[in-house]
Amino acid sequence: MIPTTSPFHPDNSAGYQAWRAAKLADYPSRSEDLIVELSDPRELTVAEYQALWQRIVKTNVVVYRTRLGETEDKEAVRQLSAQFGLTHLDANWLADEDGISSLTPHEEDGQKRGEFIPYTHHRIRWHTDGYYNPPKRRIWAMALHCVRAADTGGSNDLYDHELAYIALRDADPAHIRALMAPDAMTIPARVDANGIARPDEPGPAFAVEDGRLHLRYTARTKSIAWKQDAPTLAAVQALDALLGGDPPGAFSLRLEPGMGVLCNNVLHTRTGFSDRAEHRRLLYRARYHDHLSHLRG
Ligand SMILES: [Fe+2]
Repeated sequence: MIPTTSPFHPDNSAGYQAWRAAKLADYPSRSEDLIVELSDPRELTVAEYQALWQRIVKTNVVVYRTRLGETEDKEAVRQLSAQFGLTHLDANWLADEDGISSLTPHEEDGQKRGEFIPYTHHRIRWHTDGYYNPPKRRIWAMALHCVRAADTGGSNDLYDHELAYIALRDADPAHIRALMAPDAMTIPARVDANGIARPDEPGPAFAVEDGRLHLRYTARTKSIAWKQDAPTLAAVQALDALLGGDPPGAFSLRLEPGMGVLCNNVLHTRTGFSDRAEHRRLLYRARYHDHLSHLRG
């Protein structure tokens, strides 16, 4: 249950308006505003830490640029994330053994991974990561780090899910109520050769935990089922339309080698891309059960 004092509670109008005004004040509009240069991501200086944290607090996302170039250094990503409290990696069966996924095309090599969009050259539409995870394994934050960029394409749009919340609530608070319902979206049961491997998994799209807002969403319709009632369908249609219309406050950028993103699992996309067999695009992706936290007083 969301406390009635939370600005995210659909009945707390005054609290919402105050939070909304603070959220939108001086909200950055250019993707360059998100970028922070880091001399050593493993050990941030006070100034670098503060520059990163300031952006995380405002927009739920920050972009960093290191001098790592094409160096394959997962440890740097892990240590950077840990400086903001990200330590509990989501165990994903496609992740490498160390829990960080190497996103690179696998269509040609006949591996199982090549069946999943992240491991192809295809575009990925708006989503938050781990929307199919059960509530106890919510992905609160993630890191994306570029080792090798594509020859063309492979850029990302990023959109703070709190801005999506504001746009929907301003349009109609009923959208928020519908998307917070405990059965707003269902991940269909997975059936294997022995019968049902996992039952239907209903859950909310917007959830609040410890005062923090979480969103599960995908523009795909294949792997999820929205509740088929009028308020839910209207809310989903409003969210689809918002994201499809280049929403104000969304950022577009391309990660170059040595650059990365730290975020509280904001909405994001990837454009399709081309690369070469001898120089495959490679991004590390780390998904965490923790929220980005302020660890230096
Ligand atoms: Fe993603």
